[in-house]
Amino acid sequence: MDETVMSGGLQTIVSGGLQTGLPDCLQTALSDGLQTGLSDGLQIAVSVKPAASPPVANCGANASSDDAQTGGDQPTPPGNTPAADFIVGRSVKARVLELINRGSFGTIHRGVMLETGEDVVVKLEKQKAPCPQLLAEADIYRHLQGGPGIPKFFWGGLYDYEPFYNVLVIELLGPSIQDLFAYCHHRFTLKTVLMLADQMVDILRFIHEKHYIYRDIKPDNFLVGVGADTRHIYVVDFGLAKKYERGRALRRSSSYHFCHPMVGTTRYASLHAHRGEEQSPRDDMESLGYVWLYLLRGNLPWQGIKAEHKDETFAAVKEAKLSTTSERLCEGLPAEFASYLDYAKRMKMDEMPNYKKIKAKFRALAEVEGIEYDWEYDWNVQQEKTGVEFRARGLSDHGHESS
Ligand SMILES: Nc1ncnc2c1ncn2[C@@H]1O[C@H](COP(=O)(O)OP(=O)(O)O)[C@@H](O)[C@H]1O
Ligand SMILES: [Mg+2]
Repeated sequence: MDETVMSGGLQTIVSGGLQTGLPDCLQTALSDGLQTGLSDGLQIAVSVKPAASPPVANCGANASSDDAQTGGDQPTPPGNTPAADFIVGRSVKARVLELINRGSFGTIHRGVMLETGEDVVVKLEKQKAPCPQLLAEADIYRHLQGGPGIPKFFWGGLYDYEPFYNVLVIELLGPSIQDLFAYCHHRFTLKTVLMLADQMVDILRFIHEKHYIYRDIKPDNFLVGVGADTRHIYVVDFGLAKKYERGRALRRSSSYHFCHPMVGTTRYASLHAHRGEEQSPRDDMESLGYVWLYLLRGNLPWQGIKAEHKDETFAAVKEAKLSTTSERLCEGLPAEFASYLDYAKRMKMDEMPNYKKIKAKFRALAEVEGIEYDWEYDWNVQQEKTGVEFRARGLSDHGHESS
């Protein structure tokens, strides 16, 4: 189900929610059409997403990729379509294989590293895109290397043949939490959510301590590992992430007087983000709370709200968030969730979350509930029970059916 939102006259529906914060320069790009209901589709399906409307926040960001040089010794150019089987890279090279997904900014392909044979994902964005952001995303991956849940970065730079791509190469991961949620009939157990939460908090802590805010927390952007690594959760898509400096955000927010267009996905957006306030770590944490509740409850009360005009829909979602107390949202769930959400909502703009305490509270809850973190997730249980395998990789598994 998609929510609509208003942002400077533009809105895009991306992965079951709305992503906003689109600068005017994207108006033309948006005429490509909208992605609808991608995240609620069944996961075992070959389906390439239709051209998506890009949410952009890093527009204008300076990409300073070391490897982002022109020229080089790339072989045969791919022509005008993102066809399979061409080579990208300079310091290291990858063969670009089949298209697996159309992202908000470009296309996502499976690939393989030429020297090592490692499986990778290659993200391509046309250099003449209205608001290129992929090299900035590559830089963020580069800066975050080694952190928990950060995919291995292989290369970021330019492909300087027609039609001139910006390129990002990262490790190939498994299905997203949204894919797996659909596989599990849109409901996760407390155990699965606690095991995910534990890792998600670590991931966000690392990102925040590296002075970034993520700004697009949603189940589609968290992927499981592959092979021997299926117990770990990874985060992808730093397209909306941004450098964050404590103090600076506070100063800027008062001088800008809360007039930023919202950035993120409506369904999981914090109330501060709805109000157009400058985002900070607290907003990532509030969004995380909404994600956990979505996974536990199977839905959020503001899903599917639709008014005649997009501004009204956006306002209605915000109103629904404002008028739904944490207690009501978390009815029937352990009290820890309501108190977490209240904590996240009450945080000051410049406050760093107490990640350790958050994890400890949920760990204590697990203990009381007799839950062991044995990394047997609902999708593992489901697979054992039904024998229906979630085909963990193969690009065909990446797509989502439109609902
Ligand atoms: N490293 C990866 N391994 C496997 N699948 C990936 C990887 N990166 C992205 N994907 C798939 O492509 C989708 C879109 O990629 P993402 O980086 O989130 O771009 P967008 O900005 O379009 O949301 C993800 O939701 C996921 O399904
Ligand atoms: Mg994404």
